[in-house]
Amino acid sequence: MTSGGNSPSRPVVRGDVLLGQIESLASVGLDSEGGRTRLALSESEKAGRDLVVRWMEEAGLEVRVDRIGNIFGILRGADGGLGNGLMIGSHIDTVIHAGPFDGCYGVLSGLAVLRAFREAGVVPPRPLAVAAFTNEEGVRFQPDMLGSLVAAGGMPLGEALNIADGQGCTVGEALAAIGCSGGEEPGFLLPSEYLELHVEQGPRLDAEKKRIGVVEGVQGISWWRVTVEGTANHAGTTPMKMRHDAGYAAALVSVFLRERSLSSGTTLATVGTIAFEPCAVNVIPSKAVFTVDLRDPDGAKLTEAEEGLAAFLEKTALEEGVRILSEHLVRCEPVVFDRELVQTVEDAAVSKGYSSMRLVSGAGHDAQMMAGVCRAAMIFVPSIGGVSHSPDEKTSAGDLLAGVDVLLDVVLRVLGF
Ligand code: GLV
Ligand code: MN
Ligand code: MN
Repeated sequence: MTSGGNSPSRPVVRGDVLLGQIESLASVGLDSEGGRTRLALSESEKAGRDLVVRWMEEAGLEVRVDRIGNIFGILRGADGGLGNGLMIGSHIDTVIHAGPFDGCYGVLSGLAVLRAFREAGVVPPRPLAVAAFTNEEGVRFQPDMLGSLVAAGGMPLGEALNIADGQGCTVGEALAAIGCSGGEEPGFLLPSEYLELHVEQGPRLDAEKKRIGVVEGVQGISWWRVTVEGTANHAGTTPMKMRHDAGYAAALVSVFLRERSLSSGTTLATVGTIAFEPCAVNVIPSKAVFTVDLRDPDGAKLTEAEEGLAAFLEKTALEEGVRILSEHLVRCEPVVFDRELVQTVEDAAVSKGYSSMRLVSGAGHDAQMMAGVCRAAMIFVPSIGGVSHSPDEKTSAGDLLAGVDVLLDVVLRVLGF
């Protein structure tokens, strides 16, 4: 530890400021049903970005933005450089009608930790950074975790900028429209360690009455878009046996995925979007377009699930006399976090007197991408009732503060304080 002033004290997070900022950010993009929608690179997300950048500047951080729109607040270390840093990150884009914590809690907690260093007058031995990565949710642009993927070198910038949303607007155009394309090359700030604090978004910590989740890894994710082409015909005159019903074929796939997942024990499958054409009450659908989200902590079992889906699509096409096309949107391999860093998270939780348990994340996170380029780990706090991706997402203030308390302790341990 080196002093920026006369006598540095130990960094302490100001919980009231953190909770106030979480609440303020949660009010950006609010809808009448109590959720908020800040799809990546939208006008409402831009308002959230502006707020976060202002808070970074107020905390005395150096703000840099890269060409995929990732935002970094940096506190330089004793050597004045950017190398060998420790980064804390997450995202501030949301799903549709989201809760207040997903991603925002991690970004604002990282900011709270860096602010604590500044306010204590402590110059860290190595640079600290807080990151808000672009398009983590993947609702508007696929793949998800796009900003961290590009920063980690997993996709060339040019390819990412050309990805289009459902309306044909590309990432590059969306960045330009809201003026959020920065000047830094993605990957200009690759840390030695990456930490992400997040609400669990699942029911385990709440059910087990544990305050801290020591995250050992993230399960694998595979996203598909499936298009079924059948034949439109009259709902009242076409005998059931003479139909080539795209809607029915889509329903068969959905039921198959649920049953296959239930019997597999570990695989999760979700048909989260579906659209029919012509979409009329008395017309047999000529087209159904739907998405499939498959997840499994075991990469081989995820591959089996993908193969099972492919075989079922082929069989259904044949049996129902429809054409089925599938496009692979995303494949993220399961990730195992750095053992030593995971142990440090557990040690910090124990030393702070918080109950904890080890678990594997069901949700995708930027930490998955960063784990490819540095030592990475995550900390979870309970989601009440396991609810997330919903306006009803809740975590108690006490648990939010316990999480950032552990995060700061991990940072201090990693830096050798
Ligand atoms: C991101 O939130 C995901 O797991 O889909
Ligand atoms: Mn998230
Ligand atoms: Mn999410």
